[in-house]
Amino acid sequence: MGWTPWDWKELSVAQQPEWPDLNQLELVEKELSTYAPLVYPTEIDQLRDSLALATKGQAFLLQAGDCAESFNDHSAQNVRDRLKVILQMAVVLMYSSGVSVIKVGRMAGQYAKPRSSPTEDYLGIDLPSFRGHIVHSDEPYVQKRTPDPKRLIRAYQQSLSTINILKSLTTGGFADLSQVHTWNQEFVASSSEGERYDAIATEITRALNFMEACGINLDKEIALRQVRFWTSHEALLLGYEAALTRMDPKSKKYYDLSAHMVWIGERTRDLGGAHVRFASGISNPIGLKVGPKMTTEELDDLCKVLNPDNIPGRLTLITRMGAQTLKVRLPELIEQVQHGGHKVLWACDPMHGNTFTSSQGLKTRRFDDILAEIKAFFEVHREIGTWPGGIHVELTGDDVTECLGGSLEVFESELDTQYNTICDPRLNARQSLDLAYQVAEMLF
Ligand code: PEP
Ligand code: CO
Repeated sequence: MGWTPWDWKELSVAQQPEWPDLNQLELVEKELSTYAPLVYPTEIDQLRDSLALATKGQAFLLQAGDCAESFNDHSAQNVRDRLKVILQMAVVLMYSSGVSVIKVGRMAGQYAKPRSSPTEDYLGIDLPSFRGHIVHSDEPYVQKRTPDPKRLIRAYQQSLSTINILKSLTTGGFADLSQVHTWNQEFVASSSEGERYDAIATEITRALNFMEACGINLDKEIALRQVRFWTSHEALLLGYEAALTRMDPKSKKYYDLSAHMVWIGERTRDLGGAHVRFASGISNPIGLKVGPKMTTEELDDLCKVLNPDNIPGRLTLITRMGAQTLKVRLPELIEQVQHGGHKVLWACDPMHGNTFTSSQGLKTRRFDDILAEIKAFFEVHREIGTWPGGIHVELTGDDVTECLGGSLEVFESELDTQYNTICDPRLNARQSLDLAYQVAEMLF
């Protein structure tokens, strides 16, 4: 009621950069508000309808991508490699479990990062914490960390370019199921996960050949030829989000046209804060991170504020607290949501409750801890009888060494060989596939 895209400005706004020149920021936001949308209301409504199916237990959400996308990774090749691993995971999950998978990238706009501490240590120097390429460079020099509003424009342009590449890949033949073999990158194909994937791909090809032999014209089956792929990011920089929020002339509803889905992070989910206020008025599907400190009352209130009409597919609760805490806290949170009659999708972020610093000083996560949190998530939901509706993971298509473990184990002493992330440690493509097999088994 009475909501406008900019009324959050009257509230306290957590996690915003200290812009040196607010007038310049305002000029940039004004310019952005004249730019074309990155996504469209009809697409957003379609994603909400798909997520509504998952809310009812009829589909599974795979939300995946970088912790922080980089302005340096703008090539078509880079986007294609990130897409490949997500498509591979989706194939493994669908083929092994028979459940339909909704593919949402942490892609085409995931440029802003919340930080727990305003400064970070680099070789004994105190630097302003890195807040994402939409704010400043990740280079470890104090001057390079000065927030620059012009980067909002660059983030928009790079999101647009990423969406264009994604669209042509997902509709132009690359994502055709007959290409399922080609999504296996070389360094993956040589591993046991890659060989297992190849076996599934061969089975799929045989099934397609069989259908064709039966006289089914597969060229006409759009579902086999194209993939629906959706974009998402954390709605953190509210000026950027508000500038891209427009009223749909047909429905008279507001949509944040920077991505199909946006989420509210653990550090910005205050009931009375600006981020919740902003998200409450847009019609997109919203994700809400649910960390270890979330109380049952808070969660109940947030569900009411973020989804007052109780629309299925509108709200996804993304738990992130580590396996041990999850086992204790998740039952009461689910029971509260059930008691309130809130129609939500439950998803598990097994990354952000499992980060620690290695002996060499690199932020990392153990594959086994990630798996354990997903297992606990499934167990609690199975016990209560609710649907463990999805996973939310940080990964890359590259052969990085950022997370420990996996079947081709990455050891602590090897972390620095390919430690390329500009923010949190990501699963590499082999570890991601490995995870998909194990989640598929839980789903089946
Ligand atoms: C994230 O998803 O990158 C993130 C910062 O998560 P959270 O808000 O849950 O810490
Ligand atoms: Co992260």
